[in-house]
Amino acid sequence: MTKLTTYKNTVYKNGQRWDNEHWWYKKDLDFWKNIVAESSGKKVLELASGTGRIALPLVREGAEYTGIELSKDFCKTAEQKLKSYPNTKIINGDMRDFNLNKKFDLVFIGFNSFLHLLTDNDAQNFLECVKKHLHENSRFIIEIFVPNPLFLHRPDGMRFSTMEFTDSKTGETVSIEETNEYNPETEVNYITWYYSTHKKKDFDILQFSLRMFYPDTMNRLLIDNGFTILDVWGDYYRTQFNEESKLQIYNCSIF
Ligand SMILES: C[S@@+](CC[C@H](N)C(=O)[O-])C[C@H]1O[C@@H](n2cnc3c(N)ncnc32)[C@H](O)[C@@H]1O
Repeated sequence: MTKLTTYKNTVYKNGQRWDNEHWWYKKDLDFWKNIVAESSGKKVLELASGTGRIALPLVREGAEYTGIELSKDFCKTAEQKLKSYPNTKIINGDMRDFNLNKKFDLVFIGFNSFLHLLTDNDAQNFLECVKKHLHENSRFIIEIFVPNPLFLHRPDGMRFSTMEFTDSKTGETVSIEETNEYNPETEVNYITWYYSTHKKKDFDILQFSLRMFYPDTMNRLLIDNGFTILDVWGDYYRTQFNEESKLQIYNCSIF
């Protein structure tokens, strides 16, 4: 078996820890709230919906929200967060193979989750499923970062400090260091996170892999799979994508 199939995204095994790590990441939320407010209706489908980080502000604004998420523990965390909102549904499933027999006004995938589609085949399967859930006035939006060569071509095995967070169970400060190994042929970046407290070094070692998608590949995949690209934005303020952009945000329809 190749590394592509054996390397698991173990970093998504614990929803509470992931929320502890990412409590500060809120800069995309107004963007998504505005997108929902401008949609043709309230029916929203998020793919790779995680722990409900984006869902919560959307349902508070009245979205009828469905999320599809692979990690069972993340689904549980999201359900807990959303339990007082009746128009919400979290489905434990794979975004490469789903059919809800329903059309949504907005379908989106945020916070780089599209990069978990490691091959063109995965991306095509995903896009095929998305298409079945769109009507003529629906929008489909993908938000990913622009690959950064400094991040990809780091010396093998060298650790870089990534973040520090407080574990909500123990109150301890946990630091994360990261190594990465990039395969330029497959464009997949294999990332390892090392978790330490001041008492215990490397008490957990978790992994995830991300395919680096460049704008030319995104354009090809979207157009070849029948999408119309209405806008490509380079940040959450909807600046038109340019060579300085850090993000690629594709606003698409199928008509
Ligand atoms: C970076 S997290 C983003 C989560 C959430 N969208 C957010 O913004 O907080 C990526 C998510 O993709 C999920 N994921 C990875 N592969 C998936 C797949 N094939 N189908 C569904 N979810 C997947 C992971 O379990 C994880 O929750």
